[in-house]
Amino acid sequence: MRSYHIITFGCQMNERDSETLAGMLEAMGYVRCEDPKASDVVILNTCSVRENADKRFYGVLGQLKHSHEDRPGMIVAVCGCMMQQQAVIDTLKEKYPWVDLVFGTQNLQDFPRLFAGVKASGKNLIELPEEGGALPEGLPSKREYGFKAFVNIMQGCNNFCSYCIVPYTRGRERSRHPEDIIAEVKALAADGCKEVMLLGQNVNSYGRAKGEVAEKGYIASRDEPHISFAGLLREIDAIEGIERIRFMTSHPKDLSDDIIECFGELKHLCRQIHLPVQSGSSKVLKEMNRVYDRDQYLALVRRLRQACPDIAISTDIIVGFPGETEEDFEDTLSLVREVEYDSAFTFIYSVRRGTPAASREDQVPEELKHERFDRLIDAIHEIQERKSLAYQDQIVPVLVEGRSKTDQSMLTGRTEKNKVVDFPGDDSLIGTITDVRITKAQTFSLYGETV
Ligand code: 5AD
Ligand code: SF4
Repeated sequence: MRSYHIITFGCQMNERDSETLAGMLEAMGYVRCEDPKASDVVILNTCSVRENADKRFYGVLGQLKHSHEDRPGMIVAVCGCMMQQQAVIDTLKEKYPWVDLVFGTQNLQDFPRLFAGVKASGKNLIELPEEGGALPEGLPSKREYGFKAFVNIMQGCNNFCSYCIVPYTRGRERSRHPEDIIAEVKALAADGCKEVMLLGQNVNSYGRAKGEVAEKGYIASRDEPHISFAGLLREIDAIEGIERIRFMTSHPKDLSDDIIECFGELKHLCRQIHLPVQSGSSKVLKEMNRVYDRDQYLALVRRLRQACPDIAISTDIIVGFPGETEEDFEDTLSLVREVEYDSAFTFIYSVRRGTPAASREDQVPEELKHERFDRLIDAIHEIQERKSLAYQDQIVPVLVEGRSKTDQSMLTGRTEKNKVVDFPGDDSLIGTITDVRITKAQTFSLYGETV
């Protein structure tokens, strides 16, 4: 039996791409193997959003070198966002010439052909097309869970935030045709799937991405995607069997009233939104090219809470953006306290070569960035603790995902607001939505019992 192993770095978009790669390999007769060193094919699907991910990639790749030498016929392939940068390709050619196959974010669908070429010729191959064109449809997929699924609805980003590499690695925004998305969700529902996570770098501009890419015919012979993101949400809400809808990531500048209203109206849309703020300082937001200021962001939060009073809000925050002063940072702290986020992903600004912010002279010293990062974490945890403790004795519906990784005697699942709950129970509950009473609420974890 020939085997494969895929190592995925980065975001859910990459996880979704890895599911496609796994689906293609299984269609070719390969089976998943837990140990990369013992696998016949290893794919590293990379992320370039921060420097740490780059370093981890090279570390993991280095570890595979010996297995690759010792096991003739083993194929190591690398793909994903890092491959869209020339400097990375140069490093690979120079320091890792033994890597068999390199491809990018825009030609995932070509993997079977590229892979067959490498196998047949025994020669290394680097193939990186320029621009994506149509988003591929109908690719196989090996999903992680039967009862919840990622669904790509658009790809790419046109925003060019001054710190971010993604617009350069994922290309321009392209939306899938609504009919294809709806057909996919219906097929998932028929397969027993209860929760869908709609994915895109900027889901709020779904259907709006036209212009340059549209001229290249990215939706082939059919009309432009003709519904807005809110329209798409409404259609998916009506699909029988889908009980939970989530989406990620939203850009505040494109969060329309129409989308906000969906939170109050749609039966299956989870009362939860991830709304990256990045900074609480209007000055920094302007320099980040975020196109909204502090007050506009806070107004959005108020509108969301008007439409859906107990909506859970999470965010991304960057500390130490070039030129960030103590005052700017305090604006971030005060915004965090004002919004009272349910959770927040915090990042230390990382220089990404080729982005406008990278060439600024006023980079914040490393030590100061770390000091601010720690203060931010403290502020977030304080709020999280308060919010978490409020779950004590509540009864919450939980979509049961499986056995807890840390304690096999417990089941684990997620609430509508994406909180993880562990509780004792039978395997037959896996994949169901079950009411759980919270018996022990802690800052980062909730424990309960079925009712
Ligand atoms: N440095 C630090 N964090 C970054 N992010 C994106 N680019 C950078 C960078 N250069 C963060 C943003 C984004 C999340 C996915 O990663 O907060 O929302
Ligand atoms: Fe990483 Fe961003 Fe690419 Fe996702 S889109 S894999 S976070 S660089």
